[in-house]
Amino acid sequence: MSKIVLLPGDGIGPEITEAAVRVLGKLGDFQTEDHLIGGAAIDATGEPLPQATIDACRASDAVLLAAVGGPKWDTTDPDAPRPEQGLLGIRKELGLFANVRPVRPVPALYDSSPLRRDRIQGTDLIVIRELTGGIYFGDRGRNGDSAYDTCVYSVAEIERIARVAFKTARAKVISVDKANVLESSRLWREVVMRVHSEEFPTIALEHMLVDNAAMQLVNAPRHFDTILTENMFGDILSDEAAMLTGSIGMLPSASLGEDGPGLFEPVHGSAPDIAGTGKANPLAMLGSVAMMLRHGFSLESEAAALESAIDRALEEGLRTPDLGGEATTEDAVQAVLSNL
Ligand code: IPM
Ligand code: MG
Repeated sequence: MSKIVLLPGDGIGPEITEAAVRVLGKLGDFQTEDHLIGGAAIDATGEPLPQATIDACRASDAVLLAAVGGPKWDTTDPDAPRPEQGLLGIRKELGLFANVRPVRPVPALYDSSPLRRDRIQGTDLIVIRELTGGIYFGDRGRNGDSAYDTCVYSVAEIERIARVAFKTARAKVISVDKANVLESSRLWREVVMRVHSEEFPTIALEHMLVDNAAMQLVNAPRHFDTILTENMFGDILSDEAAMLTGSIGMLPSASLGEDGPGLFEPVHGSAPDIAGTGKANPLAMLGSVAMMLRHGFSLESEAAALESAIDRALEEGLRTPDLGGEATTEDAVQAVLSNL
């Protein structure tokens, strides 16, 4: 039986994890096991990523993570443990260098986006974000009264993420960088161009500076097919792209490595302001379950069934508060289950 490690984490994490487990139960036989990460792990063990969690993830077939972080653990003290170190740590430990974030607004939600319907209609893009390099993992520290973070990329790191993007793209990859300023971006562009011409000459390739990409994402989102970008740019642009779907509560993601278990998680955070109120939108988490079924277990028809159950629930009018409605997490689970 397939073994899934659940990492509920903080805030709304436990509620949406429970939602995921109930939906999973209807789709097959899976063995699940809960482990600690983030603030919950800091409270229980003093560390954001206990060794027991790493070991369990390594021994699993897939990892389903909800969210980490919250005001309780917010600090500017460089020596204090932070919940986010748990998430960055597990990505690194499992070698999950490729973060896949599909952005496909559901027609039923076209009017829930802060952007006009005619802008977002027909958008169907995917962000391929490099996840274990760049400024989030470079050397950092403080020197007297200054502080620094460094962005480092190697040729090998750029090559492997570029290949993921070219394999994912239907027709065109838009590689996003800041090559007019950053040396790491100039290497990025050089390597992407070489991988493209040597291995994927039939896919179109465009380069876009990150500031322009941020503008084009809201100006002409239909223009994008596959966005290939480095860690921090991908972090920022994927939150921006989430709003095309109406709410950050809608975006699922998969984090994949060369081999070994993948990690599946919603793009949104732990939403501490609504934790425990029963109002969390579980749909990004359920979308992440669908991605786990597809990428982690090759259960394509189960994944597609879950995705269309989510779409149908929205067509029937399901709206949690983040989408302007009053449905609870429980209502959302019921609506999806009844369409499954
Ligand atoms: C995300 C999150 C994380 C990231 C944080 C919580 C470390 O924002 O998955 O996008 O920056 O990768
Ligand atoms: Mg983010």
